[in-house]
Amino acid sequence: MRWPLLTGVALTLISTTLLARSIPDPHQQPAPGNEAAQTPIARAGYSVATNYQLQCAGCHLTSGEGSRANDTPRLAGFVGNFLKVEGGRAFLVRVPGMSQSALNNQQLADMLNWLLNKDGMAGVSMPEHFQPYSADEVAAVRRQAMLNLPETRGKLIEQMKAQGISITDGLGD
Ligand code: HEC
Repeated sequence: MRWPLLTGVALTLISTTLLARSIPDPHQQPAPGNEAAQTPIARAGYSVATNYQLQCAGCHLTSGEGSRANDTPRLAGFVGNFLKVEGGRAFLVRVPGMSQSALNNQQLADMLNWLLNKDGMAGVSMPEHFQPYSADEVAAVRRQAMLNLPETRGKLIEQMKAQGISITDGLGD
């Protein structure tokens, strides 16, 4: 009765040894048809929705739901509130996920204008009037580093509360 067990163990050991290889494999070649160097995202010409999935959804999730477990705020139905408070418009450009993304200034402006839309992720949180971002505005604001992000964000949230806006950023505070 013991032989089948021992044979099983031996086969497992042999197969893992055979499958083991050095990673990364120094001799690995690109898959056929995939030989060209990758185009940087800033020059790839993808749609805004694709850029969102590539650059943002890893943290903010597919539809901007956010993730409390990872301290990532919900964008859906909330992000437009930042436009209602002083300093909020620049804040949206300066958060690291935006300002340090691989997107160029025009792509980042397009991303903001896509998010900040009554029919888009911001939805009901949008203010009545919205002046779309331009690439020039993004370029100017993007390079100003934010030294104390939690404090800056906290003050913006306080301003929202003072206006009676309910804080549905999913972070639960
Ligand atoms: C590595 C995770 C991560 C990635 C990637 C990321 N973000 Fe964020 N984002 C956050 C976190 C965390 C915050 C809260 C502020 C902070 O701590 O940076 C935030 C804040 C924001 C805010 C301000 C709203 C708020 O409630 O603070 C916006 C708008 C935003 N992100 C959009 C984006 C977009 C668009 C992208 C893609 C270009 C992106 N983020 C990529 C994690 C990320």
